[in-house]
Amino acid sequence: MEIYKETSLLKQRLQKLRSQSKSIGFVPTMGALHQGHISLVERAAKENDITVVSIFVNPTQFNNKEDLEKYPRDPDADFALLEKNSCDIVFAPTVDEMYPTPDTRVFSLGSVAEVMEGKYRPGHFNGVCQVVSRLFNIVEPNRAYFGQKDYQQIAVIKAMVRKYMPTFKGEIVSCPIKRESDGLALSSRNVHLSPEQRQSALLISKTLFEAKKMADNKATQKQITDFIKRSIASDANLCLEYVEIADKDTLQPIANEYPKNAVICITVYDGKTRLIDNILL
Ligand code: PAJ
Repeated sequence: MEIYKETSLLKQRLQKLRSQSKSIGFVPTMGALHQGHISLVERAAKENDITVVSIFVNPTQFNNKEDLEKYPRDPDADFALLEKNSCDIVFAPTVDEMYPTPDTRVFSLGSVAEVMEGKYRPGHFNGVCQVVSRLFNIVEPNRAYFGQKDYQQIAVIKAMVRKYMPTFKGEIVSCPIKRESDGLALSSRNVHLSPEQRQSALLISKTLFEAKKMADNKATQKQITDFIKRSIASDANLCLEYVEIADKDTLQPIANEYPKNAVICITVYDGKTRLIDNILL
């Protein structure tokens, strides 16, 4: 496995591989890697000749300084895990390497980026677009892999590519959420949970699974969201930030009383840790 910290060296290396007609699969991450990330790496390795993983905690997508400082970082553990798991090339730039000058670009993507996470984390998706567009320009992947754990992020990145990177040829590949055997969605932030909070967190996925069953049995949107609100409120450690039932492509509220082709997106504070999850209907 090769590790690059410098953009120019990575670009040279990838140029060489492309000239040998190697296809490049790319998995952007912020490190603190877990099996959710690894599932993307495995998928990329299966579908491409070369798998590139970036590790970069992107400051511009954190709208809260404390959250950025607290974000878990363990590059050596990340490199060791990637080495064992089909990664060929790691790109781990510094902030100065990634942003030699401040990025002042404003991505205006309309409602897909304004609802849910866009509303509760102002500036977050703009920062995601800044870093992902830079990474795409550096790596020029044939395919880039993203997890449905961050469901809205995929829709935003697709919209960003359509509007702002019309010459980008890469395919955006959307991969299923990887969960612990008890249902909790894997997340780098789970390390912040105490054993008791970890237990409480379980209720989030359990509630979503139950909500899906209700939808399958023709419950209305209101019945489903009322159930979710009550269920999350039943645990004193949990505080619901929002739950939305949205169109699975546009992420806008759906008109149909009985949800289908929809996604339920939920954000819950478990103590101070902000957890997100979702389920497709
Ligand atoms: P990060 O949170 O590190 O996630 C990197 C990728 O792993 C994302 O596409 C995310 O959706 C995926 N992922 C995380 N947990 C997952 C799980 N349990 N199952 C499946 N996939 C999972 O998302 C980011 O970083 C950043 O915003 C980034 C795109 C790298 C831009 O900075």
